[in-house]
Amino acid sequence: MTNSETVYFNGSYTPKNQTKLSILDRGFLFGDGVYELIPIYNKHIFYVKNHLNRLRSSLELINIDSAIVDDEKFTKIIKSLIELNSYVNHYIYIHISRGVDKTRNHIYTNECEPTILIMGENYQPFDKSTIEIGKSAIIEEDYRWLKSNIKSTSLLANVLIKNKAYTSDAYEALLLRDGYLTEGSASNVFIIDNGVIKTPKLSNKLLPGITRKFLADLIKEHGLEFDECDISKEKLLSSDEIFCSSSTNPVVPITQVDNISISTNAGPISMQLYGHAQKFIEDSYK
Ligand code: PDD
Repeated sequence: MTNSETVYFNGSYTPKNQTKLSILDRGFLFGDGVYELIPIYNKHIFYVKNHLNRLRSSLELINIDSAIVDDEKFTKIIKSLIELNSYVNHYIYIHISRGVDKTRNHIYTNECEPTILIMGENYQPFDKSTIEIGKSAIIEEDYRWLKSNIKSTSLLANVLIKNKAYTSDAYEALLLRDGYLTEGSASNVFIIDNGVIKTPKLSNKLLPGITRKFLADLIKEHGLEFDECDISKEKLLSSDEIFCSSSTNPVVPITQVDNISISTNAGPISMQLYGHAQKFIEDSYK
């Protein structure tokens, strides 16, 4: 796919490389908006209701009328983009900003019409052999704001943290706030502790990941032990296995954190969950 692919922008289908946005858009000026990234598996939209519910929740949390996200309308647009661009296994990015204002002003009015962009995004998930080897991570202080449950387009802190991981040859940065794990810069984080799969409980300090929910569903279905609880730095570093989850890669085992080895390769429970996730996707989206 090239940039001549079709995107949905404010009610029209237009070529990606010709779609233009006003410099007075509050998303551009203030990062005043929210987004979603939804996997497409074999032309099917993954956990679409959960993604659109979270989008509405993010909109409500920043005082934009969430009624603009109608399940039927948005599903139809995504299906049109899948057909128009021949997407098979792909990602859909939805971006809604508060809209174009008359001037650059921190104070918003109700006169803005939200800007709605829906487009394809190309990511290459890791193949199984990479997953089996696992990835490394760094630990970073979670210096982001205290509304990390909003899937906000204001991602500067996440961008800086992810780039620190990248320049340290690591896949992800695991974030600690007051000595406790919150999430990764672009993923949720799970540990395995004596056979129990643990992840921080939902709060304003982390994103309610849709993959996190998907994995929690799988964990229950397969009768594995699960606990949503506080995870201290010591617990994280002494865990048997660690993995990150996100829409781009449901399970990414972390075998090394800073200079500490967690496991030689991806651990057995991480691989079991990875297998369950792959099987669910293959069986559900034939
Ligand atoms: N990011 N936490 C953060 C900070 C994230 O950015 C993401 C995903 C997640 C996992 O959420 P989900 O399972 O719904 O993808 C958790 C996406 C992939 C992104 O920003 O591109």
